[in-house]
Amino acid sequence: MAKNVLVVYGSRYGCTEEVSKEIVKVLEKEGLEVSLVNLESTKDAPDVKNFDAVLVGSGIKIGKWTKGTDNFLKKNKTQLKDKTLGLYTCSGLAMEDAEKAKKMYVEEKMEDLGIDAQLFDVFPGKSILSDFDLSNPNIGFIERKIIEQAAKAQAKDNKPIKIDEKWKNDPKGWEEIKSFASKFAKMVKSK
Ligand SMILES: Cc1cc2nc3c(=O)[nH]c(=O)nc-3n(C[C@H](O)[C@H](O)[C@H](O)COP(=O)(O)O)c2cc1C
Repeated sequence: MAKNVLVVYGSRYGCTEEVSKEIVKVLEKEGLEVSLVNLESTKDAPDVKNFDAVLVGSGIKIGKWTKGTDNFLKKNKTQLKDKTLGLYTCSGLAMEDAEKAKKMYVEEKMEDLGIDAQLFDVFPGKSILSDFDLSNPNIGFIERKIIEQAAKAQAKDNKPIKIDEKWKNDPKGWEEIKSFASKFAKMVKSK
């Protein structure tokens, strides 16, 4: 019987959602059975005990994972110890400095929660400086302020936007995302 993977994610602006869907495609191509769940729109996440492996992905806003993914990790941290576990985040920082984003948004998170993923990675998120349209009425007051402030700071410094070498030929990180998913699939199948 094919091994099964639960992929749960939280995405405020859509990047982690797109990434999660791509990860699912790769896992399915590798012959795994996959359930994809958006934790921000579901009250009852599936029981992790019904899965061989779990992947949890979140977008980062003001340094934080989404509420749904955070609660999921806290609630399931004991059960997750027996599973093949993978974590990923999408953030602005990952675009500039992937190693720093890995440390701040994944390694520190694992330390805080006392969880240990066998595989984790960070992917470039939607840029606060170029990917948000302030004429969109759905952008909230605080978000608007943060985006405006980032644009002001950028204009004042007048420095080119820093992009990590890693993304020079892969600006959205799709190659890295696919390779992360296929590595995870191999780990699940080899157990
Ligand atoms: C209001 C706001 C706050 C943000 N805060 C951070 C942050 O603290 N660190 C970071 O690296 N990126 C930050 N970002 C960029 C997001 O991480 C990026 O847009 C990413 O795509 C979010 O994931 P999502 O699209 O799945 O929601 C922020 C973006 C917005 C709009």
